[in-house]
Amino acid sequence: MHSTDRPRRLRRDGVRSMVSETDLQPTDLVAPVFVDATTDERVPIESMPGHERVPVDEAVARVEEVLATGVEAVMLFGIPESKDEEGSRAWAEDGVVQRATRAITAETDATVITDVCLCEYTEHGHCGVLEADARDDPTLTVDNDATLDLLARTAVSQAEAGADMVAPSSMTDGMVGAIRTALDDAGFDDVAIMSYAAKYESAFYGPFRDAADGAPAFGDRRHYQMDPANGREALREVRLDVEQGADVLMVKPGLPYLDVVSDIRREFDHPVAAYNVSGEYAMLHAAAEKGWLDLDAVARESLLSLKRAGADIIVTYFAESVAAEC
Ligand code: PBG
Repeated sequence: MHSTDRPRRLRRDGVRSMVSETDLQPTDLVAPVFVDATTDERVPIESMPGHERVPVDEAVARVEEVLATGVEAVMLFGIPESKDEEGSRAWAEDGVVQRATRAITAETDATVITDVCLCEYTEHGHCGVLEADARDDPTLTVDNDATLDLLARTAVSQAEAGADMVAPSSMTDGMVGAIRTALDDAGFDDVAIMSYAAKYESAFYGPFRDAADGAPAFGDRRHYQMDPANGREALREVRLDVEQGADVLMVKPGLPYLDVVSDIRREFDHPVAAYNVSGEYAMLHAAAEKGWLDLDAVARESLLSLKRAGADIIVTYFAESVAAEC
């Protein structure tokens, strides 16, 4: 064979790494941390091996474990001591995320990103306040505009507790604008918003809903989260969030939506984040447990693929294990 085009020339050891287009750094990764107000002890999450719900008293210790791997940012999710119709523990000054955030920011250098959503805090498990007949009428779920003020209050209470960044994940129309205005009015113009701009109604969230106890008690989230069939609509969702002041644009889930990550990377110049979700983590673990996949290798390849598609930041349950090998 005679050919001038021999890509294999650049795959020799010593050359390969020089021409590698993408790499993974611990500082690209965000580790989700579950803080649970209903327990005094760490509780393992069965469907997410290696992850636990930790009591508020253990939040600092848990974050120190993350920092020891080189990962510098955590995303906090809370399991409150009680739930109600509106999710009022989400914006309580002594709420589980607020207490954990105070402790973590006082005692560590971690960058704290807080989840802004109501599904872990409402009795019905939906991401906002319900429309009047939602329990009886399957065409109804969350009252969009009535939810905005509650999300804004939640974000401000988290900023007051010291959050560096807030991450609204409820797919409420107008949430970024409402939160930006409320943060600015309260003097938190330096607190950034990482918006779950394109969040799909995905079956890959199953293990998370066990972990955070946030599954809807009736119905599903199809009226507010995006239809997995839609790609162009993601750009529209993102554009709206950019107009409202989003600082970081997130796509969720990650691997099944690499096309969306790549489109957003091309169309916008904001940092792009991808959420490698609980189901993506659980399925690799399950296959590895059976001896069918090499866990460390597939985890690394998954995250590298998200970066190659255009993500700058990856929220992932693999953060610690992958960072430890970077
Ligand atoms: C809250 C929220 C969810 C996830 C992150 N924030 C659950 C959902 O929308 O049902 C899922 C994360 C994961 O699966 O890892 N709205």
